[in-house]
Amino acid sequence: MKLWHKINDYFKDTFSPLVRYLHYIIIILVIAQIILSNFMNVEHNQKLGGGIINYFAVWSHIILGISTFIVSLIFIAVELKKHGVRYFYPYIYRDYDVIKLDVSTILHFKEPAIRPRGLISSIEGLGLGALLLTTLSGIVWFLLWINHYPFASYMQEFHQSVTTLLEIYIIGHGSMGLLHIFKSS
Ligand code: HEM
Ligand code: HEM
Repeated sequence: MKLWHKINDYFKDTFSPLVRYLHYIIIILVIAQIILSNFMNVEHNQKLGGGIINYFAVWSHIILGISTFIVSLIFIAVELKKHGVRYFYPYIYRDYDVIKLDVSTILHFKEPAIRPRGLISSIEGLGLGALLLTTLSGIVWFLLWINHYPFASYMQEFHQSVTTLLEIYIIGHGSMGLLHIFKSS
């Protein structure tokens, strides 16, 4: 349990309770969704594959997915209110100064600081984007599917593609985050 205490102590020092709990809930839901997706099969003709496990997995993925969408909207709103848009997306303002400094820090084999308009905050911004895209595409698929629209399968394929972005983000940001926690404790 020492591992968990180290992580929780770091987040207690860094985040307000609201951000800390939202961040935990998002992590748990996203991991649960990725695990569930391994037991699911919605065929190209939009019929559910057979079996009770598949049925249970698909409906759990849908219910948890809708919950993830709602929590994600709250998390994104809280983060944008806390830091502002420029903190996560400086390149929208053609502001590359801090990102360039951070890239040069990495090229000197040093860990860049977590700071506004920097590389790490920009990557976190992309993570929030991947989270929104994944949950929103799932919701749109669900609305098309439940109303028997023929092009639901295209949205399913789109959802399956964008989940890869979120998977890459959670592995990259998660492992860097853990390294940072252990280095700073
Ligand atoms: C953060 C939330 C979500 C995550 C991380 C997630 C993750 C995944 C992953 C990893 C897959 C498998 C992709 C593949 O086969 O390559 C998948 C498939 C799927 N997801 Fe999601 N999903 C999320 C939200 C949702 C929502 C909100 C819905 C609908 C309400 C949904 C519906 C589906 C469907 C229909 C499939 C295709 C099932 C199949 O593989 O046959 N997902 N999801
Ligand atoms: C899809 C899942 C995740 C999303 C969307 C996400 C998103 C974010 C965002 C937006 C921030 C910035 C928060 C702020 O400064 O107010 C952040 C910070 C952080 N996250 Fe995550 N995160 C996820 C998963 C993880 C995982 C699995 C870990 C591993 C422990 C992790 C560790 C961290 C750390 C260490 C920070 C930096 C704290 C600091 O500023 O010192 N995150 N995350």
